[in-house]
Amino acid sequence: MNTDATQQEQPGGPAGGWWTEAVIYQIYPRSFADSDGDGMGDLPGITARLGHLTELGVDAVWLSPFYPSPQADAGYDVADYRDVDPLFGRLSDADALIAEARARGLRVIVDLVPNHTSSAHRWFRAALPAGPGSPERARYVFRDGLGPAGDQPPNDWQSVFGGPAWTRVTEPDGRPGQWYLHLFDTGQPDLNWDNPEVREEFLDVLRFWLDRGVDGFRVDVAHGLVKQADLTNWQEPQEILSGNDVAKPRPPMWDQDGVHEVYREWRRLVDSYPGERILVAEAWVEPAERLARYVRPDEMHQAFNFEHLLAAWTAPAQYAVVTRSLEATDAVGAPTTWVLSNHDVVRHASRLGLTTAGGRLNGIGIGDPQPDAAVGLRRARAASLLMLALPGSAYLYQGEELGLPEHTTLPDEARQDPTWERSGHTQRGRDGCRVPLPWEADAPSYGFGPTDASWLPQPPSWAEYALDRQRDVPGSTYEMYRAALRLRREHGLARGPLAWLSTGDEVLAFRNGGLTVLTNFGAAAVPAPTGELLCSSAPLDEDGRVPTDVTVWVRA
Ligand code: GLC
Repeated sequence: MNTDATQQEQPGGPAGGWWTEAVIYQIYPRSFADSDGDGMGDLPGITARLGHLTELGVDAVWLSPFYPSPQADAGYDVADYRDVDPLFGRLSDADALIAEARARGLRVIVDLVPNHTSSAHRWFRAALPAGPGSPERARYVFRDGLGPAGDQPPNDWQSVFGGPAWTRVTEPDGRPGQWYLHLFDTGQPDLNWDNPEVREEFLDVLRFWLDRGVDGFRVDVAHGLVKQADLTNWQEPQEILSGNDVAKPRPPMWDQDGVHEVYREWRRLVDSYPGERILVAEAWVEPAERLARYVRPDEMHQAFNFEHLLAAWTAPAQYAVVTRSLEATDAVGAPTTWVLSNHDVVRHASRLGLTTAGGRLNGIGIGDPQPDAAVGLRRARAASLLMLALPGSAYLYQGEELGLPEHTTLPDEARQDPTWERSGHTQRGRDGCRVPLPWEADAPSYGFGPTDASWLPQPPSWAEYALDRQRDVPGSTYEMYRAALRLRREHGLARGPLAWLSTGDEVLAFRNGGLTVLTNFGAAAVPAPTGELLCSSAPLDEDGRVPTDVTVWVRA
């Protein structure tokens, strides 16, 4: 095989399958649109605003959880997988949303949270009184504690949100008893995926939503379900992103080989339904080759490419992540995906304005070094335009089409992410990227809902980001996204192949779909490619050159 040729021309994954080319828009239901004015977004609010998404030009939406939940982790603590929390509406509202989306030609993906339930789930509520050794406890990971009194946790694992990953329960006789594992909040007990009953239950949950017409599932913490059988100690700090140092042993709680059999079984089920339903892995797994194992032909269809999200804003780092990602997914015949923001990380319009690079940045607050808003937005626009020109499928997070920054001065008393408390106020957490969207500059709650209410306060500066201030405004971030999505479709950019033209330290340029795409990461302006300028993340300079932190799409 000629490695130079593969370096120069990289395919964009398999032909066919709507998901291989799709732009998928993440809706965070709490913060998208509030129909009843209680300050919490809801399903009827989403349905009423679906026109925004068809106007923007995306192919599908992914909805973060809307199921009944005590909301200990904003709904990622599910108490009932087959219903809708009254906060967000009713099951009939979910049906109406799916039907309206379909009528508009939008696909709908729902979130599935299989690593843990809520402690309010009927299974966990039954496990407590049932006592040690019961079939009810065998659905979770209960263990006796260490030490003569059993008052030490069964191992040294830490929760992703901070603090120990074990909590001790009180037994039916009133005495302190066993411990249960929760890799996240205490309200999120981990399920025991060695138990066939757990596997059966989730197959049934999948059927429930497939029968209601959803087009697929985003699978939460897909790399966590199966734990190393001996639950061995792990002295390293808890990082959800694991395995990036291949010389180190694999953490016993992440990316165990046993998870793949679960996804093979799910794949057989979704394939038995008509209409190309898909599975998408949220797996914080590196390197790319290890992540690619989740998207082998008989497993999931896609996996989020967090290596892309985490890559530094330099030409070498971006070149490396693009080439590595395309090669790794190509090796298993899967489409590559791209993502810059979601509900768990600092929005890229702020992240790229920080001088501290990389990392799964866990929030910014009052007193922290603040991002440079102008630099952040400029780079975010350039990064988005670069992403949307790459072969494969792209994920957008609600608000990024408005250039929305993180709320980086959210008052600490308003914070709701359990990370803030569980980390002993050392990690701000993820509230700053979850603030309700601004739709109308001059309306109460910027048009998020009919009242002033908003479950997290919106910053006063957000009027300028409101959709109605950007619609039909040439050069606005919103119009840039719309143009990019239209051109991406017209020129088949998602299909590739991509051929590199320039991979220097300051400029990246490639050909795809008859376009030349160039990003200038350097300090000095560079000549624009010759041809018709179709799209640009910021104006060219007076000499027609591409300034720093700008991406252009040119038709030769
Ligand atoms: C995933 C979700 C995150 C949640 C966690 C536990 O990482 O994206 O929001 O807190 O899983 O369910």
